[in-house]
Amino acid sequence: MAKKVVAKGRAGSPLPAAERGGSSASQPPPDGAHGVTRPTQRPSALVDTRVIYCGDNLEQLKKLPDACVDLSYIDPPFNSNRNYEVFWGETKEKRAFEDRHANTQAYIDYMRPRCVELARVLKKTGSFYYHCDWHASHYVKVMLDQIFGENNFINEIVWKRQSSHNDAKQGSKHLGRVHDSLFLYSGGSDYYFKHLYQTYDEDYVEKAYRFVEKETGRRYRLGDITAPGGGAVGKGNPHYELLGVTRYWRYSKENMEELYRQGRIIQTKPGTVPSFK
Ligand SMILES: C[S@@+](CC[C@H](N)C(=O)[O-])C[C@H]1O[C@@H](n2cnc3c(N)ncnc32)[C@H](O)[C@@H]1O
Repeated sequence: MAKKVVAKGRAGSPLPAAERGGSSASQPPPDGAHGVTRPTQRPSALVDTRVIYCGDNLEQLKKLPDACVDLSYIDPPFNSNRNYEVFWGETKEKRAFEDRHANTQAYIDYMRPRCVELARVLKKTGSFYYHCDWHASHYVKVMLDQIFGENNFINEIVWKRQSSHNDAKQGSKHLGRVHDSLFLYSGGSDYYFKHLYQTYDEDYVEKAYRFVEKETGRRYRLGDITAPGGGAVGKGNPHYELLGVTRYWRYSKENMEELYRQGRIIQTKPGTVPSFK
């Protein structure tokens, strides 16, 4: 249970202000309100996204309609068998929460009804992330499969928190515990997902993409086009001659010819094994 509120906000109806007959949806709260971020975007049609709901999430979630949330990320207690205290911000306000449960079953019994509510409010297109660690992750996964459906499990994301160490000098009798686990579930099969790309570091580009196309100046690298497993029985890899070199290849002869026509197959010197550009 949250002992202190995270930020002051207008907890109350989950409906947009306009539907409540309250202040206009475009009006931000007054400036200077400590801990309140001024809204810059239009609120959702389903729920007022400009509100921070404080208190036990089981009670707060019950106020929300079904299927109104695009993304939930929870960083709940991990069943770490510890109590936490932090002194927050300039005022050093003391914040604490307990993460001790009688046993793992008691922890799961605490989290289950909250996750049921989180599944209820998630849109079919939405995503749900549960952040935990080795203390309870295996039990959490089973619980979430039961609630969200094991077919809606998308990924376990492993967050390496520290460099590898095993605390052997401190007398530990275990291997290093250096990662957290994040379980990602969708609300349904047609969920929203967008791959994010970012620019490579220049030195990586120079090392990994060593070749430069004369005509365009574009960099490229060469990839292996021989077949994994070679001529192993059961692999069915095609065997033929390409640019004077006979190998088991990873593409059929027809596909290879098409790639060659497209300029994607390169032979750096006569007799060398061709590569994919
Ligand atoms: C692991 S901490 C998260 C810390 C936070 N993500 C951060 O980085 O500062 C777990 C948090 O869950 C809160 N919590 C535990 N049970 C809760 C509940 N039923 N409703 C709302 N918050 C709860 C605790 O108060 C605590 O702040």
